[in-house]
Amino acid sequence: QQCIAVMTSGGDAPGMNANVRAIIRTAIHKNCKAYVIHEGYSGLVNGGDFIKEIHWSDVNGWLSDGGTNIGTARCMEFKEREGRLTACHNMINAGITALIVCGGDGSLTGADLFRAEWPSLIKELLDTGKITQDQFDKHQFLNICGTVGSIDNDMSSTDVTIGSYSSLDRICKAIDYIDATANSHQRAFVIEVMGRHCGWLALMAGIATSADYIFIPESPSKQSEWSEHMCKVISKHRERGKRKTIVIVAEGAIDSSLNPISCNDVKDILVEKLGLDTRVTTLGHVQRGGPAVAFDRYLATMQGVYAVDAVLNGNPDTPSPMIGISENKIIKRNLVDAVKLTKSVAEAINAKDFDKVMELRDTEFSE
Ligand code: F6P
Repeated sequence: QQCIAVMTSGGDAPGMNANVRAIIRTAIHKNCKAYVIHEGYSGLVNGGDFIKEIHWSDVNGWLSDGGTNIGTARCMEFKEREGRLTACHNMINAGITALIVCGGDGSLTGADLFRAEWPSLIKELLDTGKITQDQFDKHQFLNICGTVGSIDNDMSSTDVTIGSYSSLDRICKAIDYIDATANSHQRAFVIEVMGRHCGWLALMAGIATSADYIFIPESPSKQSEWSEHMCKVISKHRERGKRKTIVIVAEGAIDSSLNPISCNDVKDILVEKLGLDTRVTTLGHVQRGGPAVAFDRYLATMQGVYAVDAVLNGNPDTPSPMIGISENKIIKRNLVDAVKLTKSVAEAINAKDFDKVMELRDTEFSE
């Protein structure tokens, strides 16, 4: 009997609970034992109560819950071989044969590394007498699979990551609220949104709320270039009768290594050049909390079902899989290639090589 464990890792995202629920229930449905690892990789390293068998009814009501009910944490110990050796020992003691990780690119890379190192870890545990020959024989191979949970929608090889549409919905609602007060006072608002190095949330929210101007890291420009253009666009909107002004700034544009934007600089320009009464609002973690929207519940559930299939059909010769969605179909892709592509896109953006970005967009994906 296979024992499948699931953990969430990295920043929480709405839909992670739906993913965990689907994985647990599919595993049980397929006559496997299901386990949860609490607090991400640190739970794996700490062992004991952090690794628990879980049953069908334990996840009642998890489908819509925001955050992650099994916890998540950043874990330095797992980055060291010693930590991974302890994690391997804990998993073998709990009888776990497969691991599904819901997280961002860093978390999934960690899972792949763990899988690649597994044979040498179990050999060391056997040689040092920490596991028996029986345990060694039973745990020859670790099956892993990744599902991508992140509000940033920043992973290549999948069209959408779990949580990004919930976050987008939250941002749009918050901007709707701001719109009402902005409109009343004819004010301008500069709104900072999350997304790490990726401008997807800002761009989508800008289109969905009819923002006047959007700053994203994928399109960096110098203040001398954007300042005049922004003022021209906003003046035109005001002339056409708009009583409010919304400028969205992706946090990645603020952190941009090329042309960092400051919300206060944007504000100062709106005040000084256009005479607009302007406020800055940072939406913050409200973007990450709250229940999952219908699409994230669906995506996380379908991907959970596929992830269990992927680990049950995995073998030592096939690369670690990642479950994603492409053109409305749930797909299985090569996890390492997906992470590599994500990094290449980020590098090309940093190098301002947008032809390369477009070329990478057309990469043929492998399973
Ligand atoms: O990756 C999700 C995310 O919310 C990013 O958008 C943001 O940059 C980061 O996490 C914030 O991290 P923390 O919650 O650790 O401050």
